[in-house]
Amino acid sequence: MLTAYNLLCILALALTGAIAGAIEPFASLSGRTDAEIEHFIRSNKVVGGRPAPGPIADTSSKLVNDKHHPWLPLLPGQTRGVCPGLNTLASHGWLPRSGVASPGQIVTAVQEGLNMGWDLAVLITYAAMLVDGNPLTDLLSIGSKTFLTGPAPPKPAIVGGLNTHAVFEGDASLTRGDAFFGDNHSFNETLFDQLVQASIAFGGGKYNASAAAEVRFNRVQQSIATNPEFFFSIPRYATAFAEAIFPIGFFVDGRATGAAAFELDLTVARGFFQDSRMPKDFHRRDGAFGLDATGAGLSFLVNAHFIPPGFNQGVGNYVVDQETLDIFNNGDFICALYDFFVNKTVELYPTPKAKGVLRQALAQNLANFFLAVRSASSTCPEQFPYGSVHN
Ligand code: HEM
Ligand SMILES: *[C@@H]1O[C@H](CO)[C@@H](O)[C@H](O)[C@H]1NC(C)=O
Ligand SMILES: *[C@@H]1O[C@H](CO)[C@@H](O)[C@H](O)[C@H]1NC(C)=O
Ligand SMILES: *[C@@H]1O[C@H](CO)[C@@H](O)[C@H](O)[C@H]1NC(C)=O
Ligand SMILES: *[C@@H]1O[C@H](CO)[C@@H](O)[C@H](O)[C@H]1NC(C)=O
Repeated sequence: MLTAYNLLCILALALTGAIAGAIEPFASLSGRTDAEIEHFIRSNKVVGGRPAPGPIADTSSKLVNDKHHPWLPLLPGQTRGVCPGLNTLASHGWLPRSGVASPGQIVTAVQEGLNMGWDLAVLITYAAMLVDGNPLTDLLSIGSKTFLTGPAPPKPAIVGGLNTHAVFEGDASLTRGDAFFGDNHSFNETLFDQLVQASIAFGGGKYNASAAAEVRFNRVQQSIATNPEFFFSIPRYATAFAEAIFPIGFFVDGRATGAAAFELDLTVARGFFQDSRMPKDFHRRDGAFGLDATGAGLSFLVNAHFIPPGFNQGVGNYVVDQETLDIFNNGDFICALYDFFVNKTVELYPTPKAKGVLRQALAQNLANFFLAVRSASSTCPEQFPYGSVHN
């Protein structure tokens, strides 16, 4: 049935040229057959949760800025946001160019396009999906809230996309300002320049792990000194360190060898961070970069410049979160992250009200998230606030 809502979606997609499903993501809807448009409508319907895709078989380096994935400038209605990795995959058509995708599409695209390890991809994607996505349509915006994710469940659900502050997105980002200052998601030239200066001073003109440690530390000091609402505990404590390593893990060409494989050219960095663009001929890294590699990078940064988890109580007054620090030092941090996202999910979707397809979707997405948790922690207890998944 062609409802007014569906018509709006078709119009918006014709405008943005972003299509899910069988139609190539960089194509336009004009001139498409009714069957193809029908397919899109069906793919934007209530589908509930779906099992996570598996790991890709071949993780060798390959050309990914190829003729099927050209960079195209952003069109009205398409959304980009806080994550330069996902922004770039969308601007090259590895993800739908609209910036709205299913978590399954994201897990596959980050593996295919940038060689992110399956465990890491599943962990971040389903954490984000649970708090920022639409469980009914199985769609997540990588930027702002948009109607392209379809009719949302009632409040307190947010379904706000990755730009939503304080559920996944957080403070002291490398190139994006803190939400307190009004814009938590746009590329900021002043902040990028700090990354450049640190790379000149500590990386010999490249962004390497030494430069990353400085930038990570400085951004936290700046937020402590200026943002009364600065928050740097679970989950942000983990994501902030991981994201400082990602540019080295994923934005360096896979043909680089030796020391060059661990340092990022600053012009290439600007392309990804500012323009969501891969350099000409870009090859993805050789071999997957997953949770183990991220953990090693995180340790390097923390050892270079220790910052305890905590939050501001007024400008300049940083209070250490002792409980989280203890877990970080002696406990199971991945399991604490899991508990945080389970709690957040239950806050957004109170269990007695979540019924039918909503309940099924939440159970499925939690189960998908837990696949990655289990691969990193053999003792973390799985939780079933919405019952178990019926397969
Ligand atoms: C797998 C799915 C992914 C999800 C759901 C995701 C989500 C996010 C989110 C919500 C942020 C904002 C955090 C913040 O700074 O407040 C972020 C930042 C970031 N992401 Fe992703 N991301 C994903 C994959 C990737 C990939 C494949 C890369 C490749 C390099 C990447 C690189 C980054 C970087 C570098 C930042 C920090 C940006 C900055 O601080 O300026 N992410 N991501
Ligand atoms: C973060 O950015 C989004 C827009 O993408 C905006 O709706 C939201 O209000 C911002 N959050 C804060 C706290 O400023
Ligand atoms: C960029 O960040 C700097 C430093 O935090 C800030 O002063 C400036 O207002 C930001 N620029 C924009 C356009 O948000
Ligand atoms: C980063 O580059 C600088 C300058 O070449 C070098 O001294 C430093 O050891 C490098 N850091 C890492 C972790 O390789
Ligand atoms: C999750 O909620 C439980 C029960 O309310 C609480 O005991 C636990 O500390 C919370 N965990 C996290 C990480 O928020």
